[in-house]
Amino acid sequence: MRTYMAGEASMLRPKGAGETISKAVSRGAGAHLGRTAGRPAVQITHLRKTYGPVTAVDDVSLSVAEGEIFGILGPNGAGKTTTVECAIGLRVPDAGTVSLFGLDPQSDRREIHEIVGVQLQSSAFPAKLRVGEILDMYRSFYRQPADVTELAEALGLAGKRRDYYRSLSGGQRQRLSVALALIGRPKIAVLDEMTAGLDPQGRRDAWNLIERVRERGVTIVLVTHFMEEAERLCDRVALIDGGRIVALDTPASLAARARGGKSIRFLPSAPFDDRLLTGLAEVTRVEREGRHVVVTGTGELASAVILTLHAAGLEARDVRLDASTLEDAFVRLTGTHLNEEEEQS
Ligand SMILES: Nc1ncnc2c1ncn2[C@@H]1O[C@H](COP(=O)(O)OP(=O)(O)O)[C@@H](O)[C@H]1O
Ligand SMILES: [Mg+2]
Repeated sequence: MRTYMAGEASMLRPKGAGETISKAVSRGAGAHLGRTAGRPAVQITHLRKTYGPVTAVDDVSLSVAEGEIFGILGPNGAGKTTTVECAIGLRVPDAGTVSLFGLDPQSDRREIHEIVGVQLQSSAFPAKLRVGEILDMYRSFYRQPADVTELAEALGLAGKRRDYYRSLSGGQRQRLSVALALIGRPKIAVLDEMTAGLDPQGRRDAWNLIERVRERGVTIVLVTHFMEEAERLCDRVALIDGGRIVALDTPASLAARARGGKSIRFLPSAPFDDRLLTGLAEVTRVEREGRHVVVTGTGELASAVILTLHAAGLEARDVRLDASTLEDAFVRLTGTHLNEEEEQS
């Protein structure tokens, strides 16, 4: 586990709260920060980052529009965290360019800190700081911070403000780090595995919060390995594997692309020739999975298949109908399953 100290996380916070900060966090910040107006929120081209012999990110290009919830989805080790750390200036790319609202994360650090809120995958604070002290400290970095009471409530931390950081559960620490990412009313929030370690209710609360934050016009980059989270929240998703983007589209289009439509899987009552089904207008493909048959197609696929089988004196048993999902897309494009397990290492 890589652990970031509080000091590192706070590199992303403006130290002296100057005039520009209140401008940056007020509505219509783009108009004040003239250089950031009308630009993509994030523009990454041909990003490459190696750690010694390991190529963590290998030629990633993507663009995030202002106001979008953009997902970066992929299995562990895919290069998701490295990509966003390069995007916000925490790591220096080996090659490629990054810009946030037209700003360079390396040379425009000050301005970047004013518009970006970050929840890092692993943050740590001194054990003896209280939750309220951490919130107040972060709050003090901004001229027009979010309402801390409201934020703490939204994240289920309202009763925890007097508790020591060390006494928080993994889920509570996670929620605190999300609160800190949002406390400066950023133009863009980068959330890395925001809901890892949360129970199902905590996860739904966090999703609702993200949707509320987006309604205020905040651009959100959401790193996740939870399919359901990406499907539920994201406008567009980049599927990343082995440091490369394998697909980038809306969750629905990715899912549709995976199988080109729907499928019906069944156990035939007797063997039959695939041509019985491949001749149907609704059918695009017939595959065998052991004794089961998987038929992919469009339109009234299931009734066409079942009626045709019936007319041939066959019965379809153990029938399962599927509309393809983002998970299917991922498996199809990368050959690997995403790990849906909880794993806080
Ligand atoms: N600081 C580091 N030093 C060496 N290797 C690293 C470091 N950070 C990440 N890696 C490696 O880079 C690859 C991508 O890691 P990461 O960006 O954390 O992926 P993800 O967030 O998708 O799990 C992995 O193989 C990981 O082991
Ligand atoms: Mg990661």
